[in-house]
Amino acid sequence: MNILIKNIDLVPMDGKEEVIKNTNIYIEEDQIVHIGELKEDIKVDRTIDGKNKLAMPGLINAHTHIGMSLLRNFADDLPLHEWLTQKIWPTEANLTAEDVYWGSLLSMIEMIQSGTTTFCDMYFFMDEVGKGLEETGMRGVLTRGLIEEEGKNLGKLLNTKNLYKNWNGKGNGRIKVMVAPHAPYTCSPEFLGKIMDLAKELDTGVHIHLSETEKEVEDSLKQWGKSPIKHVYDLGLFNFPTVAAHCVHVDDDDINILKENNVSPVNNPSSNLKLASGFAPIDKMLKAGINVALGTDGSSSNNNLNMFEEIHLASIINKAVNKDAVSVPAIEALKMATINGAKALNWNKEIGSIEIGKKADIILIDMNKPHLYPLHNIISALAYSVQGSDVDTVIIDGKILMENREMKTIDVEKVMYNTEKIAQDLIRR
Ligand code: NI
Repeated sequence: MNILIKNIDLVPMDGKEEVIKNTNIYIEEDQIVHIGELKEDIKVDRTIDGKNKLAMPGLINAHTHIGMSLLRNFADDLPLHEWLTQKIWPTEANLTAEDVYWGSLLSMIEMIQSGTTTFCDMYFFMDEVGKGLEETGMRGVLTRGLIEEEGKNLGKLLNTKNLYKNWNGKGNGRIKVMVAPHAPYTCSPEFLGKIMDLAKELDTGVHIHLSETEKEVEDSLKQWGKSPIKHVYDLGLFNFPTVAAHCVHVDDDDINILKENNVSPVNNPSSNLKLASGFAPIDKMLKAGINVALGTDGSSSNNNLNMFEEIHLASIINKAVNKDAVSVPAIEALKMATINGAKALNWNKEIGSIEIGKKADIILIDMNKPHLYPLHNIISALAYSVQGSDVDTVIIDGKILMENREMKTIDVEKVMYNTEKIAQDLIRR
């Protein structure tokens, strides 16, 4: 289908122009083929009126655990260790493939409705997430989180290998698979070695949690005499393109290692605040030339998947922490959620900005809202005033997944009904 978006303001995130006023975007099948003056000779199947709307690239949630939506508001106001070991892990142990399927669909609805078009997920029963991607039309990276467990490690690696075979490149290229050691404190050097062998065999990237808490760094210093980042670097992990969630407690040496090895840290401000993990030095990392992306983490440590909230927080937290109102300006926070996320997932040739030749992953925001008036500065409005619920229309791979907030590919009522039933059953198992 060929779509023409007419008379729209555009924030392309192409590194050249911040805002293009009153333009036209022409999409042929899955690709953006023209931006600018209307052409006479184009064949249009659908025209979308851009009046009072703003187009920007779909947001990229570079670190999440979408099946965790089933545990939203289930365990809160607890220390991270207790939260994880006494509440989350024991409940997750009872999850079935079907549970993860429905929980993932619930998250996909939430993501589409708040403008996210691509996500990088770390969980288990990842075939179910693949099915969800295929059905909904979203774009995503599937990573099966690997925690070392006596007697189960080879099975888990084989599971990742099969996941790659079954899903990598599927859905017109909308689905990718990477390997995901959960963290250096849940994977020994030997197991990390096996995971790297697999990454090499599959020729793919790595998704991992690194230096999330002070305790993790202290334990690593005690056990290995070095930080988690130096530890995995010495093991050779950064020979692979790496997406590193959190990187909250990093020193100057860690920052150098991240920079030298083109590692993309993912900032998860809500999760770091809620679990009292601390403040990642985002401004410092950005100034060092590091590609910092943005994520929500799972919806039981956030407790939502609204990337506009993360953009807002990423920018304003750093200002307060650094006592510097210029720290992480609006445009930098928007880059983190778009083009930087695309680079982190090695997808920047296709997505992350609105440019001719790229895939049509575009969101339209309804700017005709009291909280967005007056519109002195569009970039500021996007970072500081726009809410996820202002997203009106979502196009992924040239297909309309939501229009005027009406979902086109998912039965929302059915998903809400099923997830509520599963969640009630899950906590009783
Ligand atoms: Ni996480």
